[in-house]
This record gives sequence, C-alpha cells and structure tokens, in this order.
Amino acid sequence: MILVVGATGQLGGRIARRLLYRGESVRALVRDPSASAGLAEAGADIVVGDLKDKESLRRACEGVSAVVTTANSMSRGGKDTVDSVDLTGNANLIDAAAERGVKRFLFVSALGADVNNPISFLRAKAEAEQKLRDSGMAWTVLQPDFYMELLPLAIVGGPALAGQPVTLVGEGRRRHSLISMSDVAEYAALALGRADAEGQVLVIGGPEPVSWCDVIAAFEKELGREVTVRFIPIGSPVTGMPDMIVGLLTALENYDSPLDTSVLAARYGITPTSLDDFVHGFVAAASRAATAPA
Ligand SMILES: NC(=O)c1ccc[n+]([C@@H]2O[C@H](COP(=O)([O-])OP(=O)(O)OC[C@H]3O[C@@H](n4cnc5c(N)ncnc54)[C@H](OP(=O)(O)O)[C@@H]3O)[C@@H](O)[C@H]2O)c1
Repeated sequence: MILVVGATGQLGGRIARRLLYRGESVRALVRDPSASAGLAEAGADIVVGDLKDKESLRRACEGVSAVVTTANSMSRGGKDTVDSVDLTGNANLIDAAAERGVKRFLFVSALGADVNNPISFLRAKAEAEQKLRDSGMAWTVLQPDFYMELLPLAIVGGPALAGQPVTLVGEGRRRHSLISMSDVAEYAALALGRADAEGQVLVIGGPEPVSWCDVIAAFEKELGREVTVRFIPIGSPVTGMPDMIVGLLTALENYDSPLDTSVLAARYGITPTSLDDFVHGFVAAASRAATAPA
C-alpha cells in the first residue's frame, strides 16, 4: 500500500492516479472527504488526516510500505503555514512513517531547497529533506524546477488567451528549466519502484531552459497573434497582482536555472515535455472547452 499525502492537490492527484493506473494499491490522506470523490472512484482508499495532527498520520501510515508527499502550504493559508505544514507537518509525517515501519519515502521538495535560502519555504523544504535523510527509511527527494502549469499559465497563458496584456516583472530574459507536472508525476511514480533512486536527490527540469519572453513567443506562435507585454521594473509597484506572485517573479529575475537532465530522463525512459508541446496542448484544450456544447 502506498500512502499519497497531498493527493487533493494538482501534482499529488496526478501521482495518485498514475500509481493507481499501474495497479498499485493507493491510500490518499485527505482533510475533507468531500474533496476526495474522484480519488475514491479511481480506486484509492481514503483516510482522513492532517499534517498538523500526529495521531492521524500514525493511523494513515498503518500497513503502508511507501509514502509519497507533495503536501505544502503555498496555495492554502489560514492555519496552514510554512511553519505548521512544510516544517513541522512534514517532520510529523516522517516520524509517523518511521514509527509505523514504512520502508520507502519519496518527498517532493523544490529546486533551491537550502537551509540558507532567504525564502522560508525553501528553508523548510531543506529541513524536511535533512530529517528524511536521518530517518532510517529508504528515501528519495525530487527537486523540480518551476512547473509549466502554474506561473506560466497564470502570468502568460490566461491573459494571452483572453486577449489581455501580460505583465512581467523585470525583463523576462532569465532562463529556467520549466517542467510539466505530468513529467514530475512520472518521475515520482517510477522512482518509487527503482532501487537506484534510493538515497538520491533527483534534480529535474524540462528539456530546455526558457525565459518568460520564450513563453510569450510560444503563445504568440500557437495563437497566431501578437501578445502585448507590460514590463514593470523590479521594485516598482505592480497593480492587480498578488504580492506572492510579484515576489516569485522578482526572485526568478535574479538567477538562471538551466538544468541538463537528459541523462536522468533517458534512464527513466521519460521524454520531457517541451514548452511548445505544452503550449500547443493547453491552447488546443482551451479551444475545445470553449466550443463544447453547454
Ligand atoms: N509550483 C512549482 O512550480 C513547484 C516547483 C517545484 C516544486 N514544487 C513542489 O511540488 C509540489 C506541488 O504539489 P501540488 O501541486 O499537488 O500542490 P497543491 O496543488 O498546492 O496542493 C497542496 C496539497 O497539500 C495538501 N495540504 C496542505 N496542507 C495540508 C495539511 N496541513 N495536512 C494535509 N495536507 C495538506 C492539500 O490538501 P487540501 O486539499 O486538503 O488543502 C493539497 O492536497 C509541492 O510540494 C511544491 O512545493 C512546486
């Protein structure tokens, strides 16, 4: 039995479904059972729990051979904070799994996880990685670069499709190895079954580093029209954009993250999704949705 923590999230859901599709027995830890109907229909065993509730984690880990967690506080809020979820919550889960004799643990961290990173979220990810390394379980850490499905769609895809201007902080020329969540889910599902992934930090990215200007060009090519872009100098106020997004865009303007993961991708038999293919699929799905009968 594989326990997936974070299965109601975007990446966690993809991982749970991939594992089920492969015939694995999957238990999904959820907080709100009403949000888990799709997972139950797909064949998952549902257990109610919370990373802030140690006893619920011990129950969830009963009879489990492996744990995968993608749970994080970034898109939640309220009592779910970096401190309560990404730091203490992950530590609670690692303790509960080790206590219940879980053999294998895969933790989805993030590129840049470091105890000295100025971003508290990335410090917490590094602390959880360290705790896992010391746990005695066979561990694997995934450190993906930014996902194609999140910021690029929020910043460029949504406005571009709606014919609205795109707002960028800085010049948008820094290059990052954006990766599709489907590829991250595939790495996670495969790594769980591979002995050579034990004790490894797998740094994963897409097939080529791309800039915001490349993302815009990919949408222009696919839509067959120009996209208007507003460039806001770093440090200037940005209207109509949440502070967290402004912070992320500002951070991304301070470094490049070109990753060559071709050897790892070949070893896992993964053909990483290119930006052009991703944008093509997204625009095609959006136009199918727009023309579908109500
Ligand atoms: N965004 C990026 O570009 C990027 C890049 C690199 C790595 N990552 C990492 O990749 C993963 C992305 O996962 P995702 O897309 O599936 O996340 P997501 O869509 O934001 O979902 C968050 C998940 O965490 C769960 N969760 C939050 N607080 C919890 C708590 N206290 N107890 C139990 N569960 C809790 C949520 O459950 P509820 O539904 O009940 O709230 C939900 O299932 C994260 O680990 C992230 O740090 C992201």
